[in-house]
Amino acid sequence: MSDQIEIIRPDDWHLHLRDGDMLKAVLPISAALFARAIIMPNLVPPVRTLDDMRAYRSRIEAALPEGSAFKPLMTLYLTETTDPAEITKGAETGELTALKLYPAGATTNSDAGVKDFTRITGVLEAMQEASVPLLVHGEVNDPDVDIFDREAVFIERVLEPLRRDFPGLRVVMEHITTQEGASYVNEANENLAATITPQHLIINRTDIFRGGIRPHFFCLPIAKRENHRQALRKAATSGNPKFFLGTDSAPHPLNAKECACGCAGIFNAPVTLPYVTQVFEEEGALDKLEAFTSLNGPAFYRLPVNEDRITLTRTAPDPSIFASVDAGPGGQVVVFRADTPLNWSVTSA
Ligand code: NCD
Ligand code: ZN
Repeated sequence: MSDQIEIIRPDDWHLHLRDGDMLKAVLPISAALFARAIIMPNLVPPVRTLDDMRAYRSRIEAALPEGSAFKPLMTLYLTETTDPAEITKGAETGELTALKLYPAGATTNSDAGVKDFTRITGVLEAMQEASVPLLVHGEVNDPDVDIFDREAVFIERVLEPLRRDFPGLRVVMEHITTQEGASYVNEANENLAATITPQHLIINRTDIFRGGIRPHFFCLPIAKRENHRQALRKAATSGNPKFFLGTDSAPHPLNAKECACGCAGIFNAPVTLPYVTQVFEEEGALDKLEAFTSLNGPAFYRLPVNEDRITLTRTAPDPSIFASVDAGPGGQVVVFRADTPLNWSVTSA
């Protein structure tokens, strides 16, 4: 087995960059490794209109390191008042890549999400017409549904009816966490794809409570039982073009994670590529790594594949990648599994 592999530069199909000091602190990390990323719109307040989106894109571009070729792929936060005309306009100019659907209250900063799905019919029609993908946070927000069942129930109650009503709509089920999610996507037609995060390939729900409660393993959708982790590893490493990498790197300052009611989100940008490589090696699927990180995403989004390459080497990474990131007055951001050794590193990017 080779100790060095070269792959086409990856893209991140699900990334939270935040704003202000946090944006400035985390953006250079993703920009050094990934060519493009789908930028999540769950700011406070959310990115709701094309004008909000353009302003946010300018702030991202202004925070990019000198000479960086990183391209933010912008999204809108779908609300019950989103104007269908904006979809058409954003698609025409090419500045709008996708819309993100959060069921109201399902996750961090999702209060402005959708409560009544009948109110977004016009927007979904415009998206179907213009071929703008709908990115779904696939969890129901019903407090009576057990947190570990919310993804499976979402598929049944929301996603399947929605796809039946809009058969031409292109949908990405973001950060799938279950066997049900993986099978549903696998069996669907080519209009449905899914992103998978590194953490859901690595931890299961027991890890969240191993030796005590571990707030830095808390994200939504929450990690599930081991059989689900295994199903996700199988899906990611299968080479099936419906599955691609979306890190869901979601930085929060330490004091918002380590407290009585810690918020959901795992910051993994610095360690994603070593981890994913390690997973593919463990699964005997290093030959499928490039498909997952660099080919399947552009194919679904109908974008060109990146031209340059990165090198991964079987060696312990520089310890600096595990260091907490200083996000200004908001505090430090802890890196996913910073205390765990890794045996692959990005040696040229
Ligand atoms: C994300 C965040 O912090 O914005 N949190 C998370 O646990 N994944 C929101 C999201 O993608 O659900
Ligand atoms: Zn996310």
